[in-house]
Order: sequence, then structure tokens, then C-alpha cells
Amino acid sequence: MAHSTVHEWETAEFWAPQRSTVEASLAMQPAVYADEDFFAVEQERLFGRAWVAVALAAEVAQPGRLLVRSVGGRSVLLTRSDAGLKGFLNSCRHRGTELAEHDCDIANTIRCPYHRWHYSADGQLVAVPFFDEVPRDDFDMADYGLIPVRTEVWGPLVFVCLSDDTPPLDVWLGDLPDRLADYEFSHWRSASLDGAARMFDVAANWKLIVENFAEYYHLPWVHPELAKVSRVPDHYRYQGPGMYCGQTTTPVSGDERDDWLTLPAAAGLDDSDAASGRFVALFPNVTLAVLPSHMFLMVLEPMSAGRTLEHCTFLFPPGPITADEPSAELVESFEVTRRFWIEVNDEDIDICERAQRGIARGGAPPGPLAPRFEEPLNRFHKMTADLMTLPSIADLAVPAGDRPGDVDLYGSQPNPLPPAVELDAAT
Ligand code: FES
Ligand SMILES: [Fe+2]
Repeated sequence: MAHSTVHEWETAEFWAPQRSTVEASLAMQPAVYADEDFFAVEQERLFGRAWVAVALAAEVAQPGRLLVRSVGGRSVLLTRSDAGLKGFLNSCRHRGTELAEHDCDIANTIRCPYHRWHYSADGQLVAVPFFDEVPRDDFDMADYGLIPVRTEVWGPLVFVCLSDDTPPLDVWLGDLPDRLADYEFSHWRSASLDGAARMFDVAANWKLIVENFAEYYHLPWVHPELAKVSRVPDHYRYQGPGMYCGQTTTPVSGDERDDWLTLPAAAGLDDSDAASGRFVALFPNVTLAVLPSHMFLMVLEPMSAGRTLEHCTFLFPPGPITADEPSAELVESFEVTRRFWIEVNDEDIDICERAQRGIARGGAPPGPLAPRFEEPLNRFHKMTADLMTLPSIADLAVPAGDRPGDVDLYGSQPNPLPPAVELDAAT
């Protein structure tokens, strides 16, 4: 969408403190999280130009299914037909009416509620009531198909991009699909267990939730129990080229509690994947916490500067837990895992909401990041700055991995450079 005023948020000067090395970088300005005008510009420039995850692939796997989703202030329809997955703007080609309000089954036809123009699931205009009463020579139905929106699937997720100029999804994802290839996510399913999916309404900016996910500085104080299975010294970077920030816990620990290790692991994982937790914040709005036996996936839906919906799903590799009727023992194991995740997520929500309140109502100027523990935030800030400032998204430079060398990048063994932290002394 064209706009004429250039806000300071679109200038290089505004983002200079985030452009430096992590050793010299600062947190972002309060307005970035709390100002509704910033939010409006961000919807247009960032969510209007990024590949944004909007649904699970399983939600639109069946022909005839139609989903309604919001992206960058636009309403988008996703359909599945024999022609595959398609995305369209949710607006009739007659006089613009919203075609669908909610997810539904459409029996292959999208009907406008106003004057009943009909569209096929692949977006062609197929029926126009009463138009031949007074024929129009200038009207060809072939010119009035629904307006397409770019749509792609990777692993369990459906992505939408409103801009035609953004690099393709495989460029956006970089090495992430290769890095996670052995998990074979396209076969993972959310099991039909009670509470397997859940939505949280969080009083915090979406970026605070991503930042909180992407750093492990807060672990000992916000998550004393989580820090027993995902120990601070076992964390390190898991970042190659791509629009994501990643860290790994290698190995996940079962010494003090084994909440992440009770479910059956996926087949075919190498020694590293089989021992690790992979934590990936895929820019802008997805977090993947991948354990050998399950994934806790969050898709963030920004509602306003200070409010975000978290759509959470548990996914499992094919095996006994995805069977139609998993054993009582497995259901109980999942319940332990689920409770643990919800507990951890509640702790994260509380601290993110508190961060939002402090930023919105106190507004202290940004302080320095801890280079060891908050380096992924600096990477995330740079991506945010790129999307906010680039005049043309076609010029986006997908970031390289942070440092060369397989050990550091791939999390293939226990942390080669554990931090020298004395946790007992830090309370
Ligand atoms: S606005 Fe859709 S048919 Fe008239
Ligand atoms: Fe956390």
C-alpha cells in the first residue's frame, strides 16, 4: 500500500543502535512495542511484505475447505481445490464485499453474500446472476477472478506473502529446511488429544514474545524448572543463513526431571537431533520448539501494539501417539509434557506482559544486550529494521549464519564453548 509520509521508523537513523555488532547494540525503542502508529506502519511494511505463517497445513488439507486469515491488516482466503492450495484477498470483484467471515466448507464454490457472484475454489468467477438482462460488451468473467495472494507450505505451516517482490519462501527460509530435514515435519501430526492445541490472548507486543523465546538469559529466574531440562550451559547457537534466529540445547537433560523425554522419539534422527532441543524463531511470527519426540509450535497473530494471540499446537512424529487411539500410558505421558509446556508458556506470558507494561508505562530508554545470551535478539532486530526501512523488499538480504564453522553452527555435539556462569551465585 502506498503511503506518503515517511515516519522516523522507516529511516536508517532510527535503527542505528540495532545495526551495530551485538557487543555494541541496544534493545529497541519503546515505541516499537507500544505505539499504535508504529504498529500500523509495521503492519504495512513488515507484515505486508514478509512471509507470514497463518495456518497449519493440516487445516486446509481437504478439498473444499476455506480458511479466513488476517495478514498485515488484510483479510485473506485460503482454499484447497484440485488445483492445490490457493490464496486470495477476501474481497468480491463486483463491489468489494467480504466473501467469508469464518473458516468453513464451501463445496467448491465461494458465493458472495451480496449479489451472489460465484467463484470456484481456485478463484475463477463462474456465475454472475441476472447480468444478461442487459448484456455488457465490456464484461468478460475471465477478467474478474479473485485477486491472488502468494501462498506456500513448509513442514506443518502455511505461509502467505502479500508482496510480489519478496524473495520466494525457500530463499526466506534459507538452510532451515535442510537443517531440520531429518525430522520430516511434513509427516508430523497434531494428535487428537484433548488440549493438544490452544490459544492464548497475551497483553504484549508480538516482538516481545519472539525476543523472549529467542534468548536464554531469563531461564534461571523465569523458568527454574525448565532450566533443569534445558540447562543454560547446554545452550548455543543454531543459526545458518535464513530469516530465523536459532539456538539448541544439546543435550536435553533428564538428570533432574525428564518431562521432555517421556514420549517416543521420531525414527531416523541422528545422534545430535535425537539428543537436542532445537529452538527456532522464524521471522516474523513463528516459534518452533523441536524435541526428538514432539514440537511445541506457536504462530503469533498481532492484534494491536499491546496485544497478541498465540496459536499453539503440539505436533508429533508418526508413531503410536498419532494412532487413532493411543494407549492410556502415552496419553498420560503427553499430559505430563503438555502440563510442563503450558507451565513454561504461562511463565513466559507473565514476563512478556510485565515487559510490555514497563515499556508502555515506564518507557525507559533501551539498554545494552548481553552479547552471549541475547545475540539472537540483535539478529531479530536487524531483520525488523530491514523490513521497516527497505524501500524495495526485492533488495532484502537474507542474513548469513553468524559465524563460520560446523561445530558452532550445527549443534552437533555438547556446547563447545559453555558460558562460565555460576547459577547459584546469580539468584
Ligand atoms: S459485492 Fe459481491 S456480488 Fe456484489
Ligand atoms: Fe522463556
